[in-house]
Amino acid sequence: MLSRRFVVASDSHGDQIDPATESALLSFVHDFKPQIRIHAGDVFDFRNLRRGASDDEKAHSLEDDWRMGSDFMRRFFDGGKENHFLRGNHDERLWHFAHSATGLLRDYAHDGIARVEKLVKKSRAKMLPYDSRLGVLKLGALKVIHGYAAGIGAARKHAIVYRNCLFGHTHNCDVAGAESDEGVSEARGIGACCRLDMPYNAHQTGKLRHQNAFCYGLLFEDGTYQINQAKKIDGRFYVASDFRAL
Ligand SMILES: [Fe+2]
Repeated sequence: MLSRRFVVASDSHGDQIDPATESALLSFVHDFKPQIRIHAGDVFDFRNLRRGASDDEKAHSLEDDWRMGSDFMRRFFDGGKENHFLRGNHDERLWHFAHSATGLLRDYAHDGIARVEKLVKKSRAKMLPYDSRLGVLKLGALKVIHGYAAGIGAARKHAIVYRNCLFGHTHNCDVAGAESDEGVSEARGIGACCRLDMPYNAHQTGKLRHQNAFCYGLLFEDGTYQINQAKKIDGRFYVASDFRAL
């Protein structure tokens, strides 16, 4: 059966990207040559645009975040035939501030949105908003989302709401199924491309489930699919760059 190769990466978080994951992913993409490439959100960190950001976070410049996020996006999408960028909650901060009552923030947000739109256009990607209805990418029978639930029940919640899906946002590789009279469905956490230890999560136990990983596979012409997942093991990734039909 005819198929197309795909790769899905998520949560690279601009200047918080994990260098080992970045180089493994880009090397894999170079070899695997996926026609379909999806960044499932949080390409930027924008930590000083967070509501309730600390004075320390607000003091940061965003220039490294912009530079490293943009560079990663360009390299990841370079050579892809069908590129998709799903905005994550961190990216979406620009769109929220576009309606800020503070003129300076509003101006920054409008300039930033224009910058992201230019980057997306240059990468020949399609962009979806961070929206539980409008931010759902369908690849045959598989959906890809940034993620709209967090915590230990997130995978199960996504399996119930979106059925067969890959999700980011939680930075982990949790998997959960949900039953229905049409068969079982599975939601799988993609894993993150960013560092696992960040200033904001030093005291959170949830980060102990975070993993560096990405997904890839085959999308068949009838909408069925095969998913593989590469997780960082002791600093390295072990990938299969080809498939054999038996
Ligand atoms: Fe994230």
